[in-house]
Amino acid sequence: MEPLGKLRLGVNIDHVATVRNARGSAYPDPLRAAEIAEGAGADGITAHLREDRRHISDADIEGLMDTLALPLNLEMAATAEMQAIALRHRPAAVCIVPENRQEVTTEGGLEVARKENLLGDFIGPLREAGIRVSLFIGHEAEQIEAAARIGAAVVELHTGAYCDFHSAGEDDKRDIELARLAEGAKLAHALGLEVHAGHGLTYETVGPIAAMPEVMELNIGHFLIGEAIFLGLDAAIREMCRLMAEARA
Ligand code: PXP
Repeated sequence: MEPLGKLRLGVNIDHVATVRNARGSAYPDPLRAAEIAEGAGADGITAHLREDRRHISDADIEGLMDTLALPLNLEMAATAEMQAIALRHRPAAVCIVPENRQEVTTEGGLEVARKENLLGDFIGPLREAGIRVSLFIGHEAEQIEAAARIGAAVVELHTGAYCDFHSAGEDDKRDIELARLAEGAKLAHALGLEVHAGHGLTYETVGPIAAMPEVMELNIGHFLIGEAIFLGLDAAIREMCRLMAEARA
């Protein structure tokens, strides 16, 4: 199958804010990172406003909405507080993620199948406000089917386990996970969902995900911000775009 279209890159700028917040300073500024990402070829900016505000702040979201030319993808938990914030700012897209206070990062996908009614009600007002709703889920068929039933426009498939197996050198498990992600992408597309993917992606792991023809967008943050220390953010993003285009071709 031919790729369904150009593969977009959403640059997640959360960890620029992590570095800023480590010292309680005003720098480095996530908005400046977003501007550089735009110049380097990113197609969108992703920011996760967590309940504990450990990285991105409310003021960052306000600043991004005021100044950003690229579409903003606001990652957030399915809480009333976050729903109100999304409805106030109306970003281009919202990605609903599971959130657990103690976790270092988003550990697993969202449980859609067992919370179908709850999530369906939650995303209703967001959809009515014209916000594109994405659900961050694992590759299991039951989650994908439930996402389609509740009317999400997009599913973002969690690539964290695939990346973890790769870095642990567990290649057999990595390849099984990759095959499951590919099946999930096919099923989601067949059900009319747009397919995105992300979490833990690096220069080494991006290729096979970018090559999946149904995948239309990748959201990548931690690795790019880390690589920016050595290469600069512009060069780090350009290299990711190059690898994505190469894998797509
Ligand atoms: N997509 C989603 C839904 C996420 O929660 C995250 C992490 O915030 C990412 C993508 C980006 O993951 P990473 O920072 O590991 O590239």
